[in-house]
Amino acid sequence: MSAPTVIRVATASPYDVVVGHGVLDRLRGLLPDGVQRVAIVCPESLEDLLDPFVDLLEGLDVVVLQVPDGEEAKNWEVAAACWESLGEDGFTRSDAVVTLGGGATTDLGGFVAATWLRGVAVVHIPTTLLAMVDAAVGGKTGINSPAGKNLIGSFHEPAGVLCDLALLETLPREELVAGLGEVIKCGFIADPRILELVEETEPEALTADSVVLRELVERSIAVKADVVAGDLKETGGVAGHPGREALNYGHTLAHAIEKATDYSIRHGEAVAIGCVFVAELAAREGGLPEGLVERHRATFGRVGLPVAWNGADFETLLATMRVDKKSRGNQLRFVVLDDLAKPVVLAGPSEENLRAAYDAIAGGAA
Ligand code: GLY
Repeated sequence: MSAPTVIRVATASPYDVVVGHGVLDRLRGLLPDGVQRVAIVCPESLEDLLDPFVDLLEGLDVVVLQVPDGEEAKNWEVAAACWESLGEDGFTRSDAVVTLGGGATTDLGGFVAATWLRGVAVVHIPTTLLAMVDAAVGGKTGINSPAGKNLIGSFHEPAGVLCDLALLETLPREELVAGLGEVIKCGFIADPRILELVEETEPEALTADSVVLRELVERSIAVKADVVAGDLKETGGVAGHPGREALNYGHTLAHAIEKATDYSIRHGEAVAIGCVFVAELAAREGGLPEGLVERHRATFGRVGLPVAWNGADFETLLATMRVDKKSRGNQLRFVVLDDLAKPVVLAGPSEENLRAAYDAIAGGAA
């Protein structure tokens, strides 16, 4: 077993992301000194995984806050039940929350930690590829409301993140593939070696125990760490770089597709389609170098992600994109590429080009 890799997220409150196989025993080292009580936020479906953590935390008071699976956990009633438990168990500022689960669990548990006593420490242990390379790193926390997804939340950086690839062994293949959507996105916006690794590797070989998957995870986390270190609160980058907004490459259309499908499509699948769409858009607006649009189709498609979609009409998607969190006033904004690993913001593209880019992805759909 090779040694864990430690990726430092160098924000004003720096923290480590530990990546490896069989690294759960690193949990204790990620908790701040002086912690006496730990609340583990965990969905019911993962409770079988809890025993080793309770053993690892021997000597501390450990409570388990059982939450619903997936997005069902991300609402104020579940958050309120967690606050209630922390109150009953006398959690103080020097105690900590540990989340064990996918992105919905890390979002909810991070939000509970951000708000209890105006902020207690949280360590994330993501159990999906998507959560390892995205949700658990960067400090975004939140819950949904009837007004929309992720509209209530705060930036609350973790004290540490533990990515144990062994946890991916039982992840359904479709979920692992969906996580590769965010990984490949990182390749296009910042680290082309990710694309080469995907192009050089048989997709079936990308399994939880694969050294290539580990390198893909580490590289994607490094991309995210770098971006959030420069622009934690998404206020903007420097020298024309979009800053944290770059992580939303492909996400404007992806969010519209998720809404149009009533969230039945996996996030990483929608991101793959959204990235092909913005590549088509950039080719029309600015002239993306030849071959890059096809490289989007080829890399996402290679791992089994969708690269074409026609499940809603263009007007419906356009209306949703106009109220996307990233829009300003009535002006649509997209992160596009000027070139490989050169993301820029495109504000106010022509409706003609938007429609043509959508036709290009809809035309290939079955
Ligand atoms: N998921 C995008 C971000 O963390 O900014």
